[in-house]
Order: sequence, then structure tokens, then C-alpha cells
Amino acid sequence: MRLINTALLFLLLILSCNALGLKPQLLGRHTAQTNSQHTSVSYKTFYFDQQIDHFGFLENGTFKQRYLLNDQHWHKEGGPILFYTGNEGDITWFCNNTGFMWDVAEELKALLVFAEHRYYGESMPFGEESYSNAKYLNYLTSEQALADFAVLIKALKKTLPGAQNNSVIAIGGSYGGMLATWLRMKYPSAVVGALAASAPIWQFIVPCGEFYKVVTHDFTISGTNCSSNIRRSWAAIDRVSATGEGLQWLSQEFGLCNPLKTPDEVYGFKAWLQETWVNLAMVDYPYEANFLQPLPAWPVKVICKNLHFNTGVSDEQLLNGISQAVRVYYNYTGDAVCLNTSQTATGNLGFLGWFYQSCTEMVMPMCTDGVADMFEPQPWNFQAFSDECYNQFGVRPREDWAEIVYGGRNISAHSNIIFSNGNLDPWMSGGVTRSLSESLVAIMIDGGAHHLDLRYNSEFDPESVIKTRALEVRYFKQWIKQAATTQ
Ligand SMILES: *[C@@H]1O[C@H](CO)[C@@H](O)[C@H](O)[C@H]1NC(C)=O
Ligand SMILES: *[C@@H]1O[C@H](CO)[C@@H](O)[C@H](O)[C@H]1NC(C)=O
Ligand SMILES: *[C@@H]1O[C@H](CO)[C@@H](O)[C@H](O)[C@H]1NC(C)=O
Ligand SMILES: *[C@@H]1O[C@H](CO)[C@@H](O)[C@H](O)[C@H]1NC(C)=O
Ligand SMILES: *[C@@H]1O[C@H](CO)[C@@H](O)[C@H](O)[C@H]1NC(C)=O
Ligand SMILES: *[C@@H]1O[C@H](CO)[C@@H](O)[C@H](O)[C@H]1NC(C)=O
Ligand SMILES: *[C@@H]1O[C@H](CO)[C@@H](O)[C@H](O)[C@H]1NC(C)=O
Repeated sequence: MRLINTALLFLLLILSCNALGLKPQLLGRHTAQTNSQHTSVSYKTFYFDQQIDHFGFLENGTFKQRYLLNDQHWHKEGGPILFYTGNEGDITWFCNNTGFMWDVAEELKALLVFAEHRYYGESMPFGEESYSNAKYLNYLTSEQALADFAVLIKALKKTLPGAQNNSVIAIGGSYGGMLATWLRMKYPSAVVGALAASAPIWQFIVPCGEFYKVVTHDFTISGTNCSSNIRRSWAAIDRVSATGEGLQWLSQEFGLCNPLKTPDEVYGFKAWLQETWVNLAMVDYPYEANFLQPLPAWPVKVICKNLHFNTGVSDEQLLNGISQAVRVYYNYTGDAVCLNTSQTATGNLGFLGWFYQSCTEMVMPMCTDGVADMFEPQPWNFQAFSDECYNQFGVRPREDWAEIVYGGRNISAHSNIIFSNGNLDPWMSGGVTRSLSESLVAIMIDGGAHHLDLRYNSEFDPESVIKTRALEVRYFKQWIKQAATTQ
């Protein structure tokens, strides 16, 4: 049953990207502050005729790739083009929620472009049939998506009056950040540099346990006994759910919409809890926010307040604490009638697409051992994963391809890429956290969760992210200057 676990991780990327923003709602509770910026989000929508297959000549059809433009602050003389390399979801969502780009547009006099990733949102190569079989899905790859971006950039420079000589900077978060990196690496003449925020480009090759170690660390530092009590909860669930009476108690205690009945359902329940803890680590932001779910500031600390017991407590007491903790995530608004173990977040638009990508070239091994992390031991099993992929899509993953096509560890021949990571973000485990050269720069955001730097400015931002954003803008200016002098 590796699949649940694997699938949920991909979901994370999606959600995490969705997690970029949504601050409009959340700020309401604190004070009115940066809200005005959100209302200024406005864009024009365009569609570009894109080759379905960039790498072969038999399939010669085209499809409409959606992209969004905002030129409100653009100075055609020298103003750069900030190009968001869309990831696995509706591009309007990323556009609305990548506050950083909107916040810096004026200072940089930049044109903003948000390009949708094929097979997501409205950019469907075969319309409604796109997901219907493996033949149609065959063109859903990161390589094709990168080629889409490069072709679109060339077309924009050609057709957009004034854009011909302007520098383009790729920006992305999460998988979008991986694409920004790779766009700079594979098409260095298309973009002068890239900002890759929380982009786990090495998740394919790092030890499989790293991700969950970071999750665990977040809980360990957020409250006394917090991670050790979560670690103990799995066996407590097993003991309690061994009887029919216990199952009933557990279902009631957690206010589940559908009472647990079978061992499979208990397994699913534990997977749901695990996913909840992971999501929390990803969105452990310093202010009240609403992405995966509406949450308080520093939600992991709030969760851990319910989990400081000593080792002597009964299973029931321990699980009562877990159920209180989980409600912080699912019922912060007080609106939840019951807890639904089939749901961990909203807006996961690209779930199936990302699942397919992970079943082909984006293979990210994940495992837990229950010692270095707070989860039940679960080894990485490539064969089982591959079988699940075959059952679902009729294709099998190529385990090593991502490393081969994107260069693995040694990418030092490339240049002008910023890798930003937050030390609370589990995805930093696959990120570039040390600078590799003078122009391959790593920035670690102390107290940062998943691509905090791409979010809108906030008065609750820690010093670290304020500095990070300023540094990023400084690099942008340097790249633009560099490009202007070498033109
Ligand atoms: C595309 O392929 C079809 C079928 O093979 C062929 O009839 C058509 O001429 C091709 N179009 C172009 C632009 O190559
Ligand atoms: C993004 O914002 C636009 C304009 O405010 C709105 O029409 C659109 O529905 C939003 N998209 C998402 C996914 O929130
Ligand atoms: C762009 O650069 C080329 C080559 O230097 C020059 O001929 C052209 O006039 C420039 N275009 C604009 C719009 O500045
Ligand atoms: C944490 O657990 C230890 C060991 O069981 C216990 O001695 C201690 O009191 C607990 N801490 C709190 C804050 O409850
Ligand atoms: C959610 O919170 C509200 C208000 O505190 C409470 O009435 C309701 O029972 C809670 N729902 C669940 C499922 O815990
Ligand atoms: C639980 O979530 C699933 C998946 O989103 C949904 O289909 C189902 O209707 C939900 N159940 C309840 C009781 O809300
Ligand atoms: C990494 O690649 C560069 C050139 O691409 C090469 O000079 C260097 O020796 C390589 N480093 C390692 C550790 O392999």
C-alpha cells in the first residue's frame, strides 16, 4: 500500500503550490493591511498555439496553451519580463497567489507573464479526452512543458511590441520552481536567470527518509513531547481499533463523517493523519493563513499544545489529544460538521496529472522508519509503486530518468539560478541548500515554510524572508544588467 502514501506526496506539491497565497481571506482576522495589493491583481488572458509534440514529427497537431499578462507597471525600455513557469494546476490560481511577483512588478518595471502547464487548467492538448488514455497522456512531461515555455517566450519577444530585447526571468514555486530551474538550464537563451522557490530538484536522488525527517523535526521543535506522542499514536490506534467497541469510540472521538469499520479503513485513517501532519509542516506560516485549510499563525505550535503528555498516559488520553490537534487543522473556523478522512485539503486541481507525472518521470522515493521520524515504518518499494502505476495508467515509471535528463547533483556548469528554501519546509530535503557557485545561489529562510518568499508581503513576515526577497530582487537586477551589457 505504498501508493496512498506516494500519491499523497504528489498531492502535496499541488496543494503547496495552491498554498502560495489566499491571504486575502486570512488577513481579515488580524488587521487590514496588504489587502490592497490583492485587488490590483488583474490580467489579460491569451491562448497560444502550441505543438502537442515538440520532440517528434508524426504527431503534428497543436493545442491552445493559456497564459496571462499584466503590463500595468511595464517599462518597455529595459523592463524585464517575469515569467511564471506554471506547475500542476490552474494558472489563474498561481497568478492570483504568487504575491511576490505582484509586489515587485513596480520596482522592476516588469511585465508579468503566467504560463499554464500543459494538461492543467484549460491547456488540454486533446480537450476533454486528454486524460482518457495513455496515448493522449503521452505528451504530459516536464520536457514538453519546458519546450512550451521556451517557444512561448520566443513568440512573445517576437510579437509583443517592445519585448524583443528585454530580459526574461523565470520564477516558480515547488514543481514550478523545478521548471524554472530547468528552463534556465535547458534553454539558457530564453531566460537570463531563474528563481526556484522551494524546488526539490534533488528529491529524485536524496535518501528516501529525508522528507519525513524534516516533518518530524518541525513537530519536535514546536512543543515538548510533540513528535514523540505522534510517534506513539500509531500503536495506540492499532490497540484501540482492535475491538468493535474501540473502533466506535475512535470514530466518535474524531468526529468522523464515516465511522471506521474495517482494517483497511483504519489504515486509511492513519494515512489521513500522516498527510495532515505533513501538510501542517508545509504550511507552518508565521501568520494566520488559508490555503490547504484555514489555520492559525504557527499552526504546528498550536497543534503541539495538545500533545505534550508524558509517556504514562492511556491510549484514550493520547488519542483524545491527537483528535484535538487534528481539529486545529480541520475545524479552525468552527464550521466542520464532521471530519472526512477522504479529504485533506481543497483545490487539488491537478491531482491526476501529477500522479501520472510521478508514475512516469518524476519518481520521488519516500520512506519512513519510525526512529528518525515519527511515522510508522514504511520502506520505499519501487516495484510496488511501478505496479500501481501500471494498473492506473498502463505505463511504468523510469526511475533514473529525472536524474539523467536534469543532471543530478552536479549542475555546476549552469548559472544564474536562485534556490530559496525554508528550514521548516519538508521539501527542502530535496532542495539545493548550499550555493554551488557564485551564480548558483542557495538562500535558506530561517523560520520559513513552503516558498514563503513567493507569498505577498505581510507585516508578520520574519526578518529572514524580508531579506530573502530583497536579495532576490538584487540578483534579478544583476542578471538584467549583465544581459544588457553582453547583448
Ligand atoms: C499533419 O499530419 C497529417 C496526417 O499525417 C497530414 O495530412 C498533414 O499534412 C500534416 N500537417 C502538417 C502541417 O505537417
Ligand atoms: C483569480 O482572480 C481572477 C480575477 O480576480 C478571478 O476571476 C479568478 O477566478 C481567480 N482564480 C482563482 C483560481 O482563484
Ligand atoms: C533589439 O536589439 C537589436 C540588436 O541589437 C536592435 O537592432 C533592435 O533595434 C532592438 N529592438 C528594440 C525594440 O530595441
Ligand atoms: C514529556 O514527557 C516526559 C517523559 O514522559 C515527562 O517527564 C514530561 O513531564 C513531559 N512534559 C510535559 C510538558 O508534559
Ligand atoms: C467544530 O467546531 C465547532 C465550534 O467549536 C463545534 O461546534 C463542532 O462540533 C466542531 N466540529 C468537529 C467535527 O469537531
Ligand atoms: C468526503 O470527501 C469525499 C471526497 O472529497 C466526498 O466525495 C464525500 O462526499 C465526503 N463525505 C462527506 C460525508 O462529506
Ligand atoms: C561537475 O561538473 C563540472 C563541469 O560540468 C566539472 O568541471 C566538475 O569536475 C564536476 N564535479 C564533480 C564533483 O564531478
